[in-house]
Amino acid sequence: MSLSVIVLAAGRGVRMCSILPKVLHRLGGIPILSRIIATVSQLGPQKIAVVYGDQGDALKAALPTDHLVWVQQYPPLGTGHAALQALPFVLDTDKVLILYGDIPLITVETLTRLLAALITNDEIGMITTTVADPTGFGRIIRNKDQKLTHIIEEKDATLEQKKIQEINTGFFVVPKKYLEKWLPKLTANNEQQEYYLTDIITLANQEGLSIKTVSPTHEWEITGINDKVQLAALERIYQKTRAIEFMQQGVTLFDPNRFDVRGDLVVGKEVVIDINVIFEGRVIVGNAVKIGPNVLIKDTIIEDGAEILANSVIEGATIGKGCQIGPFARIRPGTQLAEQAKIGNFVEVKNAIMGVKTKVNHLSYIGDATVGNHTNIGAGTITCNFDGKKKHKTIIGNDVFIGSDTQLIAPLTIGDGVTVGAGTTVRKNVSPNYLVHNRVEQRSVENWNKKDKT
Ligand code: UD1
Ligand code: CA
Repeated sequence: MSLSVIVLAAGRGVRMCSILPKVLHRLGGIPILSRIIATVSQLGPQKIAVVYGDQGDALKAALPTDHLVWVQQYPPLGTGHAALQALPFVLDTDKVLILYGDIPLITVETLTRLLAALITNDEIGMITTTVADPTGFGRIIRNKDQKLTHIIEEKDATLEQKKIQEINTGFFVVPKKYLEKWLPKLTANNEQQEYYLTDIITLANQEGLSIKTVSPTHEWEITGINDKVQLAALERIYQKTRAIEFMQQGVTLFDPNRFDVRGDLVVGKEVVIDINVIFEGRVIVGNAVKIGPNVLIKDTIIEDGAEILANSVIEGATIGKGCQIGPFARIRPGTQLAEQAKIGNFVEVKNAIMGVKTKVNHLSYIGDATVGNHTNIGAGTITCNFDGKKKHKTIIGNDVFIGSDTQLIAPLTIGDGVTVGAGTTVRKNVSPNYLVHNRVEQRSVENWNKKDKT
């Protein structure tokens, strides 16, 4: 049986109080709608239609459009009306999964169980669950035989109905032939004067169809986002869930409540992570890596045995085996450190390749550079890579010693085995094994302090 998916995302999300469309707010670093699209894509649907309202440009810019069908619903007249707009675009499939664009963490596993619950093409399926506080949700009404008869929205519910704790979570699987029949029949005779998708349950019952209900494995799967309080609360639940997964794989987290993954993270064995470490984008951490407190790591590979000390920021880099970074280091995109390199405090490195055991331990800027093996770059060294218009490269060989407070004016090549004296401004290339300095002779003036200065 073939499947299509309709994601409803045309609501304005006014309760977010933001110009950014609700479904583009991020959870775990990824826009809510992108998460849903990624999840439903794994079900292998023939089509995924996204219903948008008046913020289509922003949605299309944020999501890869090639495999999505975009359907406008404007003005938004309710979830049933939204699904009706998308129907012509999914006609060539048997079943349609309809879900709401503001529920980010539904899992493939639960959706697969929902699809599997439908055996014939004359049944409909939905996800319901029982919650402690059902406020705001549509309530599931069952008769005395426990047969699901209809769904009543919070605003239309009587006081008695509001006590019902079984809720509509917002996921339906319906044979397309019934959607074609039912969606045009929906009316807006309700408190909100909207066409409710949930009313298809009443029509299904009139037709005598069986309605299968499935429960989610975890309550967070069906938690929707309507405002920023809910967004922050679900973010915490998501992060805690991920932290627990990592700990179960053997990662030592000093505090799972102060650990944030905003993207994809892969971690090896015997890894120790202190508090307030944030991983963004795609990060791969090897075995036996230690990460200190208050560290931000983005789009980076950290190889086995490396140690990242407190308060370092690393982005777009490869940190080789056994390297030591920080404390207070800033590693910017394009940095590749070979084994056992050391980048110390208040050092900024950008777009630079550094060799084995090369060290920049204090207060330096190394940008647009290639540095060889076993080279020592002293405190306060600056690669002057920018002439006001263009960036230039600095090449430093193996076994070089660069003294403190040195300016290296690029473009510049410093050969293997060179020694640069402290306080030198190097403007010309230096051949291997030379000593270079431009010191002026030191002058000492006697009794300076006693001299009449007037
Ligand atoms: C909806 C359900 C409710 C359920 C709850 C689960 C209906 C009538 N109610 O209520 O039973 O318990 O979700 O979270 O379906 N949308 C459109 N076009 C519209 C209106 C909404 O595309 O005209 C989209 C919204 O962008 C949103 C989703 O549909 O992604 C749900 O709409 P929302 O207004 O949040 O519905 P709820 O009041 O949460
Ligand atoms: Ca909602």
